[in-house]
Amino acid sequence: MVLATVYDPLVRMLGAGREPALRRATLAAGGVSGGHDLLDVGCGTGALLVAAHEIAAPGARLVGLDRSAAMLAAARRRSDRAGAAVELVEGEATRLPFPDACFDVVFLSLVMHYLSLDQKLSAAGEARRVVRPGGTVVVVDFGRPDGAHGRLHALLLLHGRAAAAAPDLVALLSRAGLEQVARRPSPIGPLHIVRGVRGVP
Ligand SMILES: C[S@@+](CC[C@H](N)C(=O)[O-])C[C@H]1O[C@@H](n2cnc3c(N)ncnc32)[C@H](O)[C@@H]1O
Repeated sequence: MVLATVYDPLVRMLGAGREPALRRATLAAGGVSGGHDLLDVGCGTGALLVAAHEIAAPGARLVGLDRSAAMLAAARRRSDRAGAAVELVEGEATRLPFPDACFDVVFLSLVMHYLSLDQKLSAAGEARRVVRPGGTVVVVDFGRPDGAHGRLHALLLLHGRAAAAAPDLVALLSRAGLEQVARRPSPIGPLHIVRGVRGVP
């Protein structure tokens, strides 16, 4: 699949050198540290999993899920090169093939904009289901642009349509039953980082 081949150079170009900072901010939003069990839904070519390996190994369980076999093959090549032990699973964000409460942190990075509103809600609900009580769900995606400057930035980066159609990610995670939902600082303005916690009964 072509996207799996061009995805990493494209992200480097559009991110203008800020992709590593975005990955660090994403992991920080999840409070990732050694020994955590992490799931990356829509893991693509595995950039976040490899970044997680650098800060959470040894002892972390790193699992990536994607619907695309080509993306998973690219993620396998990247994780092998980095010496990162990751489990890669083909599957759907809206029907996660994992039992309840088996991860400390679940990420959905740049995958929500592929989904319809109903699917977004299902994916957020599934993330909440598989994260442990007290664990964290982190979503990174195009958010509604902040003010005129944000809208101009979105147009210049050619994702004006994605940004205009973007849901309120804080409201979305709240509707999925997560608690303490809040936006975190993002090094790439149009990409919002939002985290929520699964409550402890
Ligand atoms: C833009 S890429 C993002 C990759 C990676 N998470 C990142 O932050 O760079 C979106 C990925 O989500 C995957 N994807 C899209 N819809 C999906 C779904 N319903 N279930 C699982 N994966 C999906 C695509 O195959 C693709 O690999």
